Amino acid sequence: MTRKLFVTTALPYANAAFHIGHMMEYIQADIWVRFQRMQRDGASGAQREVHFVGADDTHGTPIMIAAEKEGITPQEFVAKIAAGRAQYLDGFHIAFDNWYSTDSPENVELSQGIYRKLRDTGLIATKIVDRFFDPVKGMFLADRNIKGECPKCGAKDQYGDNCEVCGAAYQPTELVNPFSVFTNATPILKPSEQYFFKLSDPRCFEFLRDWLNTPGRLQPEMVNKVSEWLGEAGEKLADWDISRDAPYFGIPIPDAPGKFFYVWLDAPVGYLASLKNYCDKQGLDFNALLNDPGTEQIHFIGKDIVSFHLLFWPAMLKFAGHPVIDKLKVNVHGHLTVNNEKMSKSRGTGISPLRYLNLGMNPEWLRYYIAFKLNAKVEDLDFTGDDFVARVNSDLIGKYVNIASRCAGFISKKFDGKLAAGLSDSAMGWIKRALTNAEGAERQAGIAANFENREFGKALREIMEIADVTNQYVDENKPWALAKDEAKTAELHEVCTTALILFRQLTILLSPVLPGVAANVAAFLNDDKLVWADTGLASGAAFQPMLGRSIGAYNHLMTRVDAKMIEELFDAPNQIAAAGTAPVAAKPAKAPKAPPLEPLVAKEGVQALAPEIAIDDFVKVDLRIARIVNCEHVDGSDKLLRLTLDAGESRHRNVFSGIKSMYQPEDLIGKLTVLVANLAPRKMKFGISEGMVLAASAADEQANAGIYILNPWPGAEPGMRIN
Ligand code: 2FM
Ligand code: ZN
Repeated sequence: MTRKLFVTTALPYANAAFHIGHMMEYIQADIWVRFQRMQRDGASGAQREVHFVGADDTHGTPIMIAAEKEGITPQEFVAKIAAGRAQYLDGFHIAFDNWYSTDSPENVELSQGIYRKLRDTGLIATKIVDRFFDPVKGMFLADRNIKGECPKCGAKDQYGDNCEVCGAAYQPTELVNPFSVFTNATPILKPSEQYFFKLSDPRCFEFLRDWLNTPGRLQPEMVNKVSEWLGEAGEKLADWDISRDAPYFGIPIPDAPGKFFYVWLDAPVGYLASLKNYCDKQGLDFNALLNDPGTEQIHFIGKDIVSFHLLFWPAMLKFAGHPVIDKLKVNVHGHLTVNNEKMSKSRGTGISPLRYLNLGMNPEWLRYYIAFKLNAKVEDLDFTGDDFVARVNSDLIGKYVNIASRCAGFISKKFDGKLAAGLSDSAMGWIKRALTNAEGAERQAGIAANFENREFGKALREIMEIADVTNQYVDENKPWALAKDEAKTAELHEVCTTALILFRQLTILLSPVLPGVAANVAAFLNDDKLVWADTGLASGAAFQPMLGRSIGAYNHLMTRVDAKMIEELFDAPNQIAAAGTAPVAAKPAKAPKAPPLEPLVAKEGVQALAPEIAIDDFVKVDLRIARIVNCEHVDGSDKLLRLTLDAGESRHRNVFSGIKSMYQPEDLIGKLTVLVANLAPRKMKFGISEGMVLAASAADEQANAGIYILNPWPGAEPGMRIN
């Protein structure tokens, strides 16, 4: 049966431009969606039906107040924000089928409809409750207008609805030391009739318990977390206040004058509203799609809004009779951090997506980097500038693009743009080797499973292994050398054809991540399809479509990241303050003078310290992680070993190192070590040494204390820069 997928990302509040965290989530979902669109199901081989929609989350007090400040209506305010969305989405190749708004007739109808059904099922109750009221401003305060300490974990400065630190959801009245964000006044409690969704009803507990524990539905961390919220028998589930008093920018509650739905009630309904709007525009039957029990409804969200998506939303849908509840899935991701810290404008670690684009940085670098770091766990994803530069330059330029740039030119120059019509067994052997994993299975299925399961990092690592084999093939066959020998023309033709066949394979597999590059490659190879099925060996489609094909001229597909761009990507903290986007920092109080530190003196037998250097001196030395891919004795030398190193570059390096007394060559093969990568090459008696591996030794060589090369911790990868 052909899968039908309805996919969403969390709807962003329409009170600010996108930040890089939004882009991370959208890129993740977009990659998954693009992968799905390439898949075919069942005997008919029909393409999966995928509907990928988003919308602005428009309602609530913050937007109402922001509009008031600008002297415009909330509708005008959100329209202004909505108008700015496309530049980000198009800029990063994020291809939603529809972008809509929760402030829409569809959302009013759907939200009120769901509410009526819940009411008819006996799951709505009213109670007179004390609500916070700002006595200075004279209005009831929304959850986000009140701050205080989290009642669960004690974190300070948390909003009145949920804690950004521990993720707990609560009522604003539970906050410790609450204050109004408008006036700083301590809010007073005023009685008001409120509408509640009865989450404490045993039906909700029973449903949620079973829903959460359906195997494969949720990430294990989430099952644990939400199980805690449920308690043993649902005793921890409290009724959820879904109403807000006028004045409020929101959807009126039916038959309840002056009351509006709390924004978090109508926000997720916005997923359905956007889908409905899209169906209406496309002539699709929204009800049929929604009523089809086969439709998989999949939400990508961040870990901070889990309670809304794993408690309230499924319960609402279930008891409003939503038919696809059994296929409802929520994929939760962690937050984006910068240098392992929460992003902060004032610390100069905020990354503006528009600034990224305006600097001329390639959006597909970021897509690749994010994808490479993503897995299916609810883990934070860290952006580190050097890591970004190393990853992109090593994988995308050094491994992937490099294949085409080394081989394509020969096809146009020497063979009139035509690929070879057939391949030798040896070339076929290389193709098979590249597309087969260590266990002898075709890589295609494993890569697909990793994309499907959102293990994008694993998928990309495996794809890069194909690139490694391809580069090895090119290195061994040296097309640049073959091109100098007329007698080797046929060989040259075959080598370049084989490499480009594998390059096409890589492009197909990478296309969910690099859609722009894939489109350019498709044009260059005259292959408008780039079909996923062609990555399998069995049918011959992995190579046959390319044999004898005329291809276009190769234009460079991607440039290297210039590390200087990364410096410009981050605002210096003081620039931000000066620009007025953050409160101007108060002049720091003079720190008390610290007592002078005792000088550091090397102990006896330890080499004395070299003269002090400045950071500028240190950064001149480019230290890289390198893998020792081969190691051998050097004939005629009793000190040296010859190391072949992979430092994430287009070819391997040859380095001599005086460590023969300490290591057997075979013990070093496969190990990682540290390379001084920008040391000028040195001509030695035995050949040219292209860099130096770092090794530790005692001051006095006579001490016979040995020499030890460095071995980075697991996780480091060839090409990573060491700082
Ligand atoms: O946290 C947020 O940014 C919310 N606007 C997400 C809403 S997701 C969905 F429910 F609309
Ligand atoms: Zn907390």
